[in-house]
Amino acid sequence: METIENTYSMPRIGDVAPDFEAVTTTGKIKFSDFEPGKWKILFSHPADFTPVCTTEMSGFALEKDTFDGLHTALIGLSIDSIHSHLAWVNNVDEKTGVYFQFPIIADLDMKVSKFYGMLQPNESETAAVRAVFFIDPNHKIRLIMYYPLNVGRNMEEIVRALKALQFSDEHKVAMPLNWKPGEPVIVPPPKTLGEMKERIEDDSLDKVDFYLAKKTI
Ligand code: BEZ
Repeated sequence: METIENTYSMPRIGDVAPDFEAVTTTGKIKFSDFEPGKWKILFSHPADFTPVCTTEMSGFALEKDTFDGLHTALIGLSIDSIHSHLAWVNNVDEKTGVYFQFPIIADLDMKVSKFYGMLQPNESETAAVRAVFFIDPNHKIRLIMYYPLNVGRNMEEIVRALKALQFSDEHKVAMPLNWKPGEPVIVPPPKTLGEMKERIEDDSLDKVDFYLAKKTI
């Protein structure tokens, strides 16, 4: 049987995002003071100067306007030194013209990686997996993605998931399979017999039955 080291933790959806102080490419930050009032996407990559990571970081940088428009701040992380981060940011900028303008945490002591379940020793004992944490303006973790070292993430899905979370909060609805902005959303199912009767009699919704009803907003 495997022993679980208590220094490793796995935050869960609904948890308050663990706070930390860290050295980043834009200076020292305390996470709880970082970009107050905004959504945050905290994401890890296994290592600087590696191919898949370069495509992913470039993907985040190229969507800067999208994330700004969604009132969302990006913050990257890997278990590399600040010197490595600076050299990589500069190299990618020189070679491709894509500049990683968001802060990247130099998590050399693995403190943040261990807090956020980014270090998954059966995948790698030294490199963070590809994690994405969606954190709302109240510091609550709302969605978590973990990808292995050998599969890059999907930027369209990251943006779609963020939009879905924000739309759900604003309109108190849920999103069906493959939902995209503009498509019908699911209204919460009734919780009482009275609400069920009302739902059955409501002709304004696109209904399969009382428990599966959609509307377009
Ligand atoms: C990459 O980003 O290409 C990569 C990084 C670590 C392990 C495998 C691939």
